[in-house]
Amino acid sequence: MCGIVGYIGSRTAYPILIKGLQRLEYRGYDSAGIALVDNGKAFIHKCRGKVRDLEQIVKGKNISGSIGIGHTRWATHGVPNDVNAHPHRSMNGKFVVVHNGIIENYSHIRTLLVEKGYKFESQTDTEVLANLIEDIYMSAQCDAESAIRTALQKVVGAYGLAIICTDEPEKLFGTRKGSPLVLGMGNGEYFLASDATPIVEYTDKMLYINDEELVVATPKGIRLTNIYEEVDKKIDVTTVDMKLDNIDKGSFPHYMLKEIHEQPNTIADTFRGRLLADQHQIFLGGISDVLPRLARARRIIIVACGTSYYAGLVGEYLIEEYARINVEVEYASEFRYRNPVITSEDVIIAISQSGETADTLAAIRMAKQKGALILGICNVVGSSIPRETDAGIYTHAGPEIGVASTKAFTAQTVVLTMMALLLGKKRGEISEELYNSLIEDLATVPATISRILADEEKVREIAERYKGATNALYLGRGVLYPVALEGALKLKEISYIHAEGYPAAEMKHGPIALIDNLMPVFVLATKDKYYEKVVNNIQEVKARQGQVIAVVTSGDTVIRKMADYVIEIPQVDEPFTPLLAVVPLQLFSYYVAVMRGCNVDQPRNLAKSVTVE
Ligand code: G6P
Repeated sequence: MCGIVGYIGSRTAYPILIKGLQRLEYRGYDSAGIALVDNGKAFIHKCRGKVRDLEQIVKGKNISGSIGIGHTRWATHGVPNDVNAHPHRSMNGKFVVVHNGIIENYSHIRTLLVEKGYKFESQTDTEVLANLIEDIYMSAQCDAESAIRTALQKVVGAYGLAIICTDEPEKLFGTRKGSPLVLGMGNGEYFLASDATPIVEYTDKMLYINDEELVVATPKGIRLTNIYEEVDKKIDVTTVDMKLDNIDKGSFPHYMLKEIHEQPNTIADTFRGRLLADQHQIFLGGISDVLPRLARARRIIIVACGTSYYAGLVGEYLIEEYARINVEVEYASEFRYRNPVITSEDVIIAISQSGETADTLAAIRMAKQKGALILGICNVVGSSIPRETDAGIYTHAGPEIGVASTKAFTAQTVVLTMMALLLGKKRGEISEELYNSLIEDLATVPATISRILADEEKVREIAERYKGATNALYLGRGVLYPVALEGALKLKEISYIHAEGYPAAEMKHGPIALIDNLMPVFVLATKDKYYEKVVNNIQEVKARQGQVIAVVTSGDTVIRKMADYVIEIPQVDEPFTPLLAVVPLQLFSYYVAVMRGCNVDQPRNLAKSVTVE
């Protein structure tokens, strides 16, 4: 949610900032801007729209300077327009700021500043912060670092910030609380960003800034302190393993399609070193120290948002089925405010692709205070959630750039599946024989997904048929119910078609009223214990002239006779069907969105990483 980039060094900052913003555009994309310092003067260029619009408006303007900051925005305070776009300059031009997050007490601070004569151009909380820093700087006659420190002590809310002071143009300031910030460490140059993606082409050495830390970078070196005390902190450099082709589209027209197709490989990466099929073993190193406590848990509570929440629902089915531990799945945003009953016998599992989702982060902080063991299942290495959990498992799906999550979902589901089987074994709830055979079957999932992807053209034809739909219904039962929810979410996120996921049996309690001959109904109807019942649901839809697209087990001849379209997926053990059944639903949403002319990778109003409540 909003992307921040900054550079200080000996190169011209502009191309680095622009490229950085392009890489970060998936975090927010309603406006963009940069500030460059040249000869002690800050030049700001910003506009509503995308980074490519920014590139247009800077033509013919001064873009020199080897220090600069940039921003791509997802609006919180103030509509997306040129004025509200970042960077924001303080009234007397001393400070220029880009900000990710929300300053909650901005209105109070603004009133105080207005009383002192400050005037504001924008409606943003960020401009308030820029002026607060300047006010302290000018009235206390201190240096920029002290002014920033004092200002941040007065601020309530979340921030990731990159700041420049025109009186001290050889310094780049970065600080965070609740919004991620990383400093790339080059040779005599430093790169500041909301995540590592814009930095990896210059250096793999990163300093992940912690909450309430302040970094000051000059070409000669950096200094890291806390905003409350001026004592130097240890610089803990992490080497990241992210390749450039991980963050490029390659030959695919969109990131989303690339990421859908990556799934056989990303799942294999999630398995690596963990699913030891030939030895019939699952080894989850990230949680091995806490496994005894996890296996003894009275209850597991999974907290997550969006697609990660749906992966959590799959986890609930599997952990209850195989490990016989009571599982609850909660929207993090509800859980954090509900004053839930949590004890030290509970285990909380936070699932998050980005590892930065504000509600999920707040939920684990609350549960930690109540003494629960906190685990994480996250994709972005070094992000906030893994750093605040007691233990966890990285999904290793690689950077997910498309805003609609695809490969992260399957990777999260794979981790939960392995966890369910491992816990089942440890608790003596599944036999050696079943455990071994499930492991062998799970290992075949990547190859099976490749076979489903080979049938992509079929899904494209179905998308062509239904691209004009205004509503869609997705039905599933058991472990496929969360997949129905995820299928519906994918369609609405990127094609803006209203879609709902339902447990198939609930259809007659409401959604059946919507069915007519225009309504596509996806029914997840693989050969499992619900099969006969779901076949009845298909009959009920057909009796009302609904259009049925059924996802069935290969070779099913019964449903083929009833449904308008069938999509076959190979037979696998029931717990693994979500990993397969979701793939055609992802492809369907993708193709419908493309056919409707939607911006698949950057759907309207959404953001990849939701770092505000
Ligand atoms: C946003 C994204 C979704 C994602 C959700 C949770 O809404 O657009 O794709 O599922 O946040 O994000 P997380 O990073 O915590 O999985």
